Amino acid sequence: MRYLILSDIHANREALSAVLAFVRRKPWDKVVFLGDLVGYGANPNQTVDMMRALRPLVAIRGNHDKVCSGIEDGELFNRVALQAAMWTRGKLTPSNLKWLRSLPEGPMVVDGAFAVSHGTPIDEDAYIFGEIEALNVFRQTNFPVCFFGHSHFPVIFGLSPDAITTVLTVAPSFRFRLRPGARYLINPGSIGQPRDGNPLASFAIYDSDSQAVTIHRIPYRVEQAQERILRAGLPRPLADRLALGR
Ligand SMILES: [Fe+2]
Repeated sequence: MRYLILSDIHANREALSAVLAFVRRKPWDKVVFLGDLVGYGANPNQTVDMMRALRPLVAIRGNHDKVCSGIEDGELFNRVALQAAMWTRGKLTPSNLKWLRSLPEGPMVVDGAFAVSHGTPIDEDAYIFGEIEALNVFRQTNFPVCFFGHSHFPVIFGLSPDAITTVLTVAPSFRFRLRPGARYLINPGSIGQPRDGNPLASFAIYDSDSQAVTIHRIPYRVEQAQERILRAGLPRPLADRLALGR
């Protein structure tokens, strides 16, 4: 089975459109979404509509989905994120608001084969930035493979019996073969707001038969996404960061 692993789209319609156009030429079977469909970007309804049309096998909520849909009040958000979340809450159609509110909390197990979480499988709002956080998650869970989001950069943490390793991907397309006996925590990166200094949209395809994960970086019309943010009256830093990838 080939899974499209999508995360942190953040209402960036241009980025999601570019990813979907790219995968039209790729074989894939099912969509799995790791949370943060909205928040920051200027096209929340269009991105929710696009995700709903993909009929994801599993879609879990992110912290921005919770605040934008009114499940949480965003007291831990910074000023810019909160402003964008309140703007988004006012723009979402009743149907899309209801759909977002119905997204389950991670972790969830997909096809009995792998797990997905937004932040970590222990705390949906916590971050995995480095090996210490990854090691703590490996120790407190027993999933052989877990895909996560929230930190907005693609990374593969592998735990073998004697060491933890980190693979940070920089190539436009990076293929990684999972080794038998090792465990993995994998972030496919962010589609709508990458933060690794690379503005290209990031996502993964996981082939569970060949045990290969490919992380793709896709160019999209960044200027158009920025223009929409500014025209919507959203804070300028949200537009500026898209070109910088941070
Ligand atoms: Fe996010």
